[in-house]
Amino acid sequence: MVTTLSTDIGISGARVVQRCDRLGVQPYSDLERGLFRAYLMPAHAATINTVASWMSEAGMSTRIDGAGNLIGRYEGHKPNAPALLIGSHLDSVYDAGFYDGPLGVLLGIECVAALSAEGRRFSFAIEVVAFGDEEGSRFPISMICSRAMAGTLTDDDLAVTDGGGKTPEQALDLFREWVFRPMHNIDPRSAARRSEDIIAYLEPHIEQGPVLQAEDLAVGLVTGIAGQLRFDVEVMGTAAHAGTTTMDLRRDAMAGTAEMLVSIETIVREIGEDLVATAGRINAWPGSTNVIPGRVTFSLDIRSGSMERRNTLRAIAKTRGLDLSWTQLQDLASSPCDKDLSALMGTAMERAGHKKRALVSGAGHDAMVMSDLCPTVMIFIRCKDGISHNPAERVRMDDTQAALDVMLEFVTLLEARA
Ligand code: GLV
Ligand code: MN
Ligand code: MN
Repeated sequence: MVTTLSTDIGISGARVVQRCDRLGVQPYSDLERGLFRAYLMPAHAATINTVASWMSEAGMSTRIDGAGNLIGRYEGHKPNAPALLIGSHLDSVYDAGFYDGPLGVLLGIECVAALSAEGRRFSFAIEVVAFGDEEGSRFPISMICSRAMAGTLTDDDLAVTDGGGKTPEQALDLFREWVFRPMHNIDPRSAARRSEDIIAYLEPHIEQGPVLQAEDLAVGLVTGIAGQLRFDVEVMGTAAHAGTTTMDLRRDAMAGTAEMLVSIETIVREIGEDLVATAGRINAWPGSTNVIPGRVTFSLDIRSGSMERRNTLRAIAKTRGLDLSWTQLQDLASSPCDKDLSALMGTAMERAGHKKRALVSGAGHDAMVMSDLCPTVMIFIRCKDGISHNPAERVRMDDTQAALDVMLEFVTLLEARA
């Protein structure tokens, strides 16, 4: 695993983008082609090892907590002062873009590098947090790591298993062997922080939508994040011979699922507003060309959803003689960002020469979980054509520089307010 990469350019937004690009390929991806960095997999460990070396280079002490979060700390005037956390996540979706997550972590490091180069310290410490799981790419739940830090993980959350049957704690036990910083324990609950030690959580993130590009703006101010529900849905029919079972005698779980998915889409379109629903994963059993599927499972991600609507799916299952079961995996409440800190961030944007454009995030972010622990504030960075969760995701170096300028104004204003 690579530990230190030499850098040709100095502290800048350009270096942030360059570093994100370096983290987009092996050994920082578990794919030979394309980026996939799931929580506690080898690519995650390699990424932590390199990002930790960048944190040290920027003047921070580093540690890995019991959930696998990498934390760099830049002390204030006095040791042990409460900290401003700046962070985002290192994990990715399958075949991901390079900036969703790492951009925020590396902007945090760049912000500290700039302060440290000028010998500037504050009445608060700054910690850069690289969360290990935000996407939920490995386990059936997401935001394990920010929930660990916020102290809101439940025993049920820790009992989940990945595709190979491992729990997060079993995965952590392997992971600790691959990282170069000691992990003194591997209990995600031990990652919980005390609210009196934290003054705020700031998350810079690529917008993942088209608004800033449409308005020709480099950065935006996030006022809140939409809530999200995650379900696993299981549809049970009867597996039978594809050639001999007449259409009337079938209990085809796949055909029933197809009708359900179209119905979900119709309902969501009818309701309109900000409601969205996505079935991103589907599996059918036994999975043979000549066998009618007897069982189908699919994931359902609903944002700002109305729970009563699932009765429509029950009605489809009943008409087709299918059995339906739902498991709610996650319910993340919508989360407004802190008004005072957002006002301060708005001032920072104007001082850095940018318009204070307010946006609501449809994408989920660690900030929505961290709001259980401390006040949160978020900025978005323009995303080319609004494309994200896709290798075509792109950010501009000058926009990333704009975000860095805004963050430096923000910490200055925060100190003046303290
Ligand atoms: C994370 O990217 C999410 O919005 O699910
Ligand atoms: Mn993200
Ligand atoms: Mn994402």
